[in-house]
Amino acid sequence: MTHTLRRCAAATLVLGAAAALAAGCATGGGGANAAARAEHPILAQRCGRCHAIPRPSTLPRDKWLAALERMKKRMDMPAADWDTLAALPTRDAP
Ligand code: HEC
Repeated sequence: MTHTLRRCAAATLVLGAAAALAAGCATGGGGANAAARAEHPILAQRCGRCHAIPRPSTLPRDKWLAALERMKKRMDMPAADWDTLAALPTRDAP
């Protein structure tokens, strides 16, 4: 417990919140910076490079899916990962 917390804190300091999320530090709930907490690890890993980590739960479904289609032209990602993001809960589809 103590070891895990210390390692996560170090990762956050050295590599940034995205790396801490990638290491699974966000799954414990408390401690993580609320602003950096992503709704899915893929978002933290791949979608925070050009803008803030997107939050699908704040967008209507049609806007979220349209944005994903636009992002497909900006970056490469396995199809299965796009499908995962498209299936995330949006504002009007919990
Ligand atoms: C290469 C840079 C880049 C990456 C990587 C990127 N985006 Fe974007 N994103 C943009 C730009 C530029 C805009 C603003 C123009 C637009 O909306 O198309 C944007 C806008 C958005 C918006 C706002 C759309 C709206 O109508 O409010 C969402 C949502 C979004 N991105 C989601 C994502 C997701 C999800 C990923 C990861 C799969 C991602 N982005 C990765 C560049 C990027």
